[in-house]
This record gives sequence, structure tokens and C-alpha cells, in this order.
Amino acid sequence: MIPVIKSIKEVREYVKAWRKDGKSIGLVPTMGYLHEGHKSLIVRAAAENDCVIVSDFVNPTQFGPNEDFETYPRDIEKDAALCEAAGASIIFNPEPEEMYVNALTTVSVDKITKVLCGKSRPTHFDGVCTVVSKLFNIASPDRAYFGQKDAQQLCVIRKMARDLNFDIEIISCPIVREADGLAKSSRNTYLDEKERKAALCLSRSLAIGRTMIENGEHDAAAVKAAIRDEIEKEPLAKVDYVELVDTENLEAVRDCSGGILAAVAVYIGKTRLIDNFIID
Ligand code: PAJ
Repeated sequence: MIPVIKSIKEVREYVKAWRKDGKSIGLVPTMGYLHEGHKSLIVRAAAENDCVIVSDFVNPTQFGPNEDFETYPRDIEKDAALCEAAGASIIFNPEPEEMYVNALTTVSVDKITKVLCGKSRPTHFDGVCTVVSKLFNIASPDRAYFGQKDAQQLCVIRKMARDLNFDIEIISCPIVREADGLAKSSRNTYLDEKERKAALCLSRSLAIGRTMIENGEHDAAAVKAAIRDEIEKEPLAKVDYVELVDTENLEAVRDCSGGILAAVAVYIGKTRLIDNFIID
């Protein structure tokens, strides 16, 4: 069975031994309760590196006070089986006390963390950047793998890695979806049967927006309105945001002709879901 490691020191011992043997290292940061989306990242990391570390840590610092840290689903045994099948070498599954001992340091990226998810989750990206910096320093990987499902997170981490000179290649992996289009997410387990059906309004509305752009619509306001209208047809859905932004600086665009990210966040009942598409 794949080693499930609790201590930073022990991860470092693996890393040191691998480096001594000239092996390359891939890192896949996760919060566990792994699904096919996570698996696609691990499989890719295993194909591109000699050794793969999957971190499996529900990071308390990226949850707001009224968010779901306590109830976030956890199943390390199932995760271990998935990691092993996907070709990972070790799992790093620390307790919060191992990661944060009287910590006074936060890594914070400005500007691009204040829009989209940052508006309703003002401390979220500080938590993400801090934990990912720590994971980068613990695992010192050649490459780190992130999903486009969390497009803003990917953009923020790329910027952080550039700004802080992490010598790590940040690799983006496509969104893995359920057969009916819903983007896979650990939070989908919160949805009851009715909500699960309602949640399809995210991917359905985005598909409408994408088709409009592909058919030549340039006006971002028109595309945003069509996406919002489709979501608002669903009685269980409440829009947090619908945005069309530049893929680099995440600033709102008025014209859909350049590289754009169309992103939505929607409450389905109490569960907040996100989805997006990118047009280059
Ligand atoms: P988590 O939500 O567990 O996601 C871990 C990684 O899996 C992220 O890079 C995410 O974008 C990717 N992922 C999730 N669902 C996906 C899907 N359907 N298709 C493709 N990739 C998908 O994101 C986090 O954890 C945390 O913020 C973390 C980066 C680990 C920091 O704590």
C-alpha cells in the first residue's frame, strides 16, 4: 500500500533520497475526497515525473468563518487507493498542527485575488497561497499540477510562483466532468437529488455563452446576460457571480475577442459551486 505520511520531516527524507537518485518529482496538491478530476492530475503527474507526491490536507486557513471546514468530506483510505491506482508514490496527509505551529506568516497575492471568488471569499486566496507555498517548500517539486476547474486559483498560483521565484513548472489540467456535464467536485456530495439536477444550470449556461462567442458574439454584456438568464431559470440556484475576464489579469472584458475566461459561481441550496470555460 502507498505510504501515507503525516510528518514534514519524513516527506523531506523521501525527497532527499529521490534527488540523490536523480529522480524528477511532481506535486499534486489536494484537499482529499478524491475523484476523477483529481485522478487526472495524478495520472498526468505520474506520466511526466519519476515520483509523485499527492498532498491530502483540508487546509483550515482557506476557509472563511461561516464556510464548510468542519463538514468538508474526508476519506483517507479511499484516497490512498485512488492515489495508488493513479501512480502516486506517497501521500502527504498532515494534521493542521503539523502545518501551522504558531505561524505568523501569510503569502498574499494582490489584485487578482480581489475579484471573482475573492469578492465573496476575501481571505480564501491568502490561505491557498500560504499552504501551496509551504507545500512547494516541503516537496520541492519540478512540476506542480492544478485543475482549470479552479481557474482563478491557477492564475493566482502562477503569479505567486513567478513573483516569488519558485523554480517549479505550474501545469494546468482540463476540467473533468460527469457524463451530464456537471464539473466533478468534492462538494457535489452535499447535493441532494433535486439539487444535483439543478446544478446542471452551471455547465448548461456556460455552454450557451460559449456557443454565442463561437458564433461571433463580441459583446461581453450580452453573453453574461444570457448565462445569468439561464441560471436564473433554475429556482434552486442563486448567482454569486457571472463574469467574463481577461485570462491573464482577470480584469472584466467588454469585448470577447481576446483570451477570455468565462466564470460562474452559483449557490445551489447551501452549496456553492463554480465552473468556467476559457477561449484562447
Ligand atoms: P481541491 O479542491 O481538492 O482540488 C485539488 C486540485 O484538483 C485543484 O488543482 C483543482 O483545480 C483540481 N480539480 C478539482 N476538481 C477538478 C475537476 N473536475 N477537473 C480537473 N481538476 C479538478 O484546490 C484545492 O483542493 C485547494 O485549494 C489546494 C490547491 C489543494 C490548496 O489547499
